[in-house]
Parts: sequence; structure tokens; C-alpha cells
Amino acid sequence: MKKIVLLVFIGIFISCKKETETNYGQPKHDETSVAVSGEELFSGKGTCTACHLSDQKVIGPSITEIAKIYKEKNASIVSFLKEEAEPIVDPSQYEVMKTNFAITKQMSDEELKALEAYMLSFAK
Ligand code: HEC
Repeated sequence: MKKIVLLVFIGIFISCKKETETNYGQPKHDETSVAVSGEELFSGKGTCTACHLSDQKVIGPSITEIAKIYKEKNASIVSFLKEEAEPIVDPSQYEVMKTNFAITKQMSDEELKALEAYMLSFAK
């Protein structure tokens, strides 16, 4: 009986592990695929959804607010995510956002452009 319980646990463990592996195993495909999904990067590899919701401020400003300001000012989210441009949405909270550049600087230009396009699509 104990053995069966143990096997079930091992089974659950392995299936969970596979799930995270498929989520984070994406870069391999991204290198070759033509279309990178900004939405997938935003909620997956980028973990941006931890602080940015579409319409509501949580830890970071909402995507809608960011998109509105970037469109108005015709600014580049790609440059911001490469740490090549100053914050224009909420400079007082910049330190919190800065921690993410470790992730975004690892992304290709294509991935950053996909992220930018995804975020800008929220502008009304
Ligand atoms: C730990 C929380 C957190 C995470 C995770 C996070 N952000 Fe942010 N983000 C913030 C905060 C806080 C601000 C407001 C400070 C600022 O404007 O720089 C912000 C601001 C921004 C801005 C506006 C910058 C500006 O000009 O002021 C963009 C664009 C942005 N985030 C994109 C992203 C993307 C893309 C990701 C995922 C790769 C991400 N964020 C992940 C907290 C976070």
C-alpha cells in the first residue's frame, strides 16, 4: 500500500515538472520560430503579469496606462527594457521595475518587439 502512495507522489511530481519545463523551455523554439508571442512572453518567461495587470494598478502600473503614455509620447518600450531609456510612467517606483532588466536584457530584439507590440495593443 505504501508503495502505491509513493508511486502516485512520484507521478504527480514528474507531471508537475514536465509542465514547468514546457513553459520555460520556450526559448529553444523562439530561436527558430518566426513569430514570437508577446502575450506568452509577458505572462510566461517575462513574469511581467506578477506586477502588471491589463486595467488595474497592482505593484506596477496597468498595461493600459503604460501603453497610453508610451503612445502619447511616441516612446520606445524596447529601449526602456534594454535600460537605454529613462522611465516615463512612474519614475518614483523605477527601482522595483529595474530588477526585471536581468530578464529582459536576456531577450532578443524580436522578443522585446513582441512584448512592446503586445503592451501597446492595450492603448485605447
Ligand atoms: C516586481 C514587479 C514588476 C515586474 C515583475 C515587472 N514590472 Fe514593469 N514596472 C513595475 C513598476 C513598479 C513600474 C513603475 C516604475 C516605472 O515606471 O519604471 C513598472 C513600469 C514598467 C514600464 C513603464 C516604464 C516607464 O517608462 O516608466 C514598462 C514598459 C514595464 N514596466 C514593462 C514590464 C515588462 C515587459 C515586464 C516583464 C518582463 C515587467 N514590467 C515586469 C514593476 C514590475
